[in-house]
Order: sequence, then structure tokens, then C-alpha cells
Amino acid sequence: MTDQYDVVIIGAGPSGYNAAIRAGQLGLKTAIIEKRESKKLGGTCLNVGCIPSKALLHASQLYEIAEKDFEGLGIATGGLKLNLKQMLKQKDDAVEGLTKGVEFLMKKNKVEVILGAGEIVAANRVRIAGPDGDRELDTKNIIIATGSEVTPLPGVEIDGKQIVSSTGALDFANVPDHLVVIGGGVIGLELGSVWRRLGAKVTVVEFLDRILPTMDGEVSKQFQRILKKQGVDFKLSSKVTGAKTSERGVHLTVEPANGGDEQVIDCNAVLVAIGRRPHTEGLGLENAGVKTDKRGFIETDHFKTSVEGVWAIGDCITGPMLAHKAEDDGVACVELIAGKAGHVNYDTVPSVVYTYPEVASVGKTEEQLKDEGVEYKAGKFPFAANSRAKTNHETDGFVKVLADAETDRVLGVHIVGVEAGELIAEAVSVMEFGGASEDIARTCHAHPTRSEAVRQAAMGVEGWTMQA
Ligand code: FAD
Ligand code: NAI
Repeated sequence: MTDQYDVVIIGAGPSGYNAAIRAGQLGLKTAIIEKRESKKLGGTCLNVGCIPSKALLHASQLYEIAEKDFEGLGIATGGLKLNLKQMLKQKDDAVEGLTKGVEFLMKKNKVEVILGAGEIVAANRVRIAGPDGDRELDTKNIIIATGSEVTPLPGVEIDGKQIVSSTGALDFANVPDHLVVIGGGVIGLELGSVWRRLGAKVTVVEFLDRILPTMDGEVSKQFQRILKKQGVDFKLSSKVTGAKTSERGVHLTVEPANGGDEQVIDCNAVLVAIGRRPHTEGLGLENAGVKTDKRGFIETDHFKTSVEGVWAIGDCITGPMLAHKAEDDGVACVELIAGKAGHVNYDTVPSVVYTYPEVASVGKTEEQLKDEGVEYKAGKFPFAANSRAKTNHETDGFVKVLADAETDRVLGVHIVGVEAGELIAEAVSVMEFGGASEDIARTCHAHPTRSEAVRQAAMGVEGWTMQA
């Protein structure tokens, strides 16, 4: 005997659990399957991604502010000390609280949670190998929401102790003296920042000639300058060719990306952060005939896979590997299943790097607009001229607004600055409404706030920035 469902979701990360909530809301009989050993829901994001990394970024930032800025602000402290154990514990508490929250949401929306590894047996049948034995479910729809995993680097084997992925870098028991980060992308810069603030020397080795290579070029350049000022070392256009571990640490060999003399870096810990790849192993895609592309992403058209009734969402399909994109995929996919008009506009998915200052971006970069031959105008405003940023002694960074030269429609907004991740929401809304830079420029913004810098940058598109 098997049970009959409307929707069975494999994977309980942001894509899967949000799909489950929406399915519950729409009255679909829904089950969600999760194989994580910890038995916690929430996927990469809640367990070993967004949430624990932000918990450490927040705490380590406060530590650095207390250490470096309190005195100048007139706050006297004595005997400031790092209690790393407690800092890691408060991170784990944040994860615990939020994963419990997802469990609650599953109950609230009448979603059945099944622990174990899901395997597609056929287009309408899923087998679960779980702690309580095997079980099979019959279902009208399967949603694959199995997420992504760390891309390995040949020759630099992750041992979870000295050579770690992001998961290990969320849990170092001691601050490493020297941490080498391979990959100057989001994970490398966020987690590199955490350990630098706590006392590590941090060297970032990046294959390309710039960090954050998908971001606007001006953003990458200025942000690298800021991080350098904070003490991060960079080796750009470089590749790690091998790693040897011993009790004394890790011996890394590095070469120029285009070939040349080998250099050696001796360090205590290595973080491999060269990207993530879709996680579809053991899922039985071949049983149902679900097609993947060359890089292993499940091929979809509006979340429909090559097999009727089998859908895929989140990090295991193409598009930005971000939790909020995964969440939107989940909602849209279920709405399509329910006969509604589900859609996600990938052109307005914002990206945020949660460093200090933050980096936030939505839409096209200047490089993309040039490549595509789009005529555009740019307006820019530095935080050094923003009253709130100046008052708070947080003047690094700028806002850049890119708009169509003819229609003034906003095509991209790029921000380096404190709270950039919050500021970008305005740009996302304007872009979703097909708004113009003038719409931002003529909208009243509260004073004194950093959001005034967004307005001033928008004014700059038509050349009437007033406060710089
Ligand atoms: P996942 O969250 O990976 O969830 C997939 C789930 O499926 C997993 O729990 C897995 O165990 C389960 N699963 C896989 N196969 C099976 C199977 N066969 N049976 C049952 N279960 C299965 N994104 C942001 O937007 N903001 C951030 O700040 C951010 N920070 C990050 C920091 C780090 C260190 C990392 C690694 C990632 C970060 N991300 C961030 C990315 C974000 O975590 C992912 O984009 C997001 O989790 C993708 O959601 P998902 O549901 O597609 O997959
Ligand atoms: P990434 O794609 O952001 O960066 C990887 C970097 O490694 C790139 O700069 C790339 O050029 C470089 N690289 C690739 N191969 C290399 C090699 N052999 N040697 C040296 N450098 C090499 O990937 P990352 O940082 O691992 O993050 C994975 C995903 O997780 C990202 O795509 C992002 O979407 C998501 N994420 C999002 C966060 C956020 O939204 N704040 C935070 C952390 C992760």
C-alpha cells in the first residue's frame, strides 16, 4: 500500500520548504522529504549557509567595532576578550531557533515531514530510505529541491580540519593564525572577513584578475581596496596547484593563472570556496528520465523538467544560487502546479555580500550593458557625502544607478556601503514596477538616512545631484 499525494518535495531548503508552505496554503496534500543527518529542516541556508554565516558576521563585526571604534565614539571598555566558544554557540542557537521555526511552519500548513533520502522511482513515485525503514509515496507531482554542494578543487582535498569548505569555516575551534581562502567570491570574502576580524591573517587567492567577478567592475575594484585597507591580502590571477598538510600546518603551492613560477604559502588553515554545484546524486533522475545539462543542473522550462509531473527549483536548476531566488522558485512552481500564473523575474533578484561595508547589486552591470550595446546613463553618489554615513564615521562606498539613456528605465543599481543589503530593496521594487531613475530622484527619502545616497545617485542620471 502506498499513500497518494498531490505534491512530494525532495529537499527541505528554502526552495523546498517555501514550496511546501505555499502548497499547504493552496490545499494540496503535500509531503516534504529531508535527508540531512542532523534531521533539521531549512537546507544549506539555515544549517550551514546564510544563517550561521550571518550570525558570525554580526558577532565578529561587533567585536571589531568594540576593539577599534568604541574608544573614538567615547565608549571606554576594559579587558575586551574573544570568547569564541560562546560566539559559535550563539550561532548554533540562531540555527536551532530558525530550523525549529520551519518545523512549526510545516505543521501549521499541514505538510507531512518525512526524514530520509528521497529517490525518484518513476515520474509519480518516490522511495524514501529513512531511519524507520523504506517507504514509497504515490504522487501527482514531484518537486526536486535538492540544492547544491561544494565544488571540490582537485589537489586540495577537504579534510574538514585544516582544509575546509564553508561548513568547516563556520566551526573553527580556534582562530587560525593564517587562513588562506581559495576563491574571492561571496563565501571567501564573508567568511574570510569573519576570521580576519577575530585575529587571523587572511590571504585570498583568486583565479581571475578581480574579486566578486560577477559584480560591477567598479564595485569589485573599490571593494577590494576597502578590504585591503582592513588587512586582507589578495593574490589575484593565481591558482592553487597543490596542498600538503602536516602537524605544522598546510603547505600550499600557487602559480600565476596563466602559468609561471610556483610560489609557496605556508598557513594553518585553508578554505576552499570556488563555487557550488547542483546536488542530484542518488536522486534517481535516470529512473524517470529527467535531463540535466553539462554542468549537472536539472534542465527546466518554468520549473518543468523533461518529464511530465516532475518539477525542479532552487540551486539545482540554473539561475543565481541564492536563498531568496530559491524561495521564489518554490512559490512560483507550486502556483503553476495549482493552475495559477507562477513566475520569477531573475532580472530583479538582488545579490548581497554581508561584509562590512556590504555590497549589494540588482540588474545589469556596466560591463553587461556595454557588451549588450545598450545606451545607458549612470548616476553615482559617494557615502562620503551622505550626512548619516558621515555622522556615523561609515563613509566607505558609493551608490551607482544605471538607467536606459532613452527611456530612463532603471537597468541596474550597485551599492557598496553599510546596510547596502537593506538599501537595495528600493531599487528592486522600482525595477519590478519598470520604474525610471527619475521616480527614485523625485521620491521623498527620510533625512538623515543612507537611502538619501540612493536618491542622490538617481538624480545624477540626469545630472542634477545636489549634495556632492
Ligand atoms: P538547499 O538549501 O541546499 O537545500 C536542499 C536540501 O535538500 C538539503 O537540506 C539537502 O540535505 C536535501 N536533499 C538533497 N538531496 C536529497 C535527497 N535525495 N533526499 C532528501 N533530501 C535531500 N544565499 C543567500 O541568499 N544569502 C546568503 O546570505 C547566503 N549565504 C550563504 C552562505 C554559505 C556559507 C553558503 C554555503 C550558502 C549561502 N547562500 C546564501 C546560498 C543559499 O544557502 C542557497 O542558495 C540556498 O540554500 C538554496 O536553497 P535550496 O532549497 O535550493 O537548496
Ligand atoms: P562564487 O561563485 O561566489 O565565487 C567563487 C570564486 O572562486 C570566483 O571568484 C571564482 O573566480 C573563483 N575560483 C574558481 N575556481 C578557482 C580556483 N581554482 N582557484 C582560485 N579561485 C577560483 O562561489 P562561492 O563563494 O563558493 O559561493 C557559492 C555560492 O553560494 C555563490 O554562488 C552564492 O550564490 C552563494 N552564497 C551567497 C551568499 C550571499 O548571498 N551573501 C553568501 C555565500 C554564498
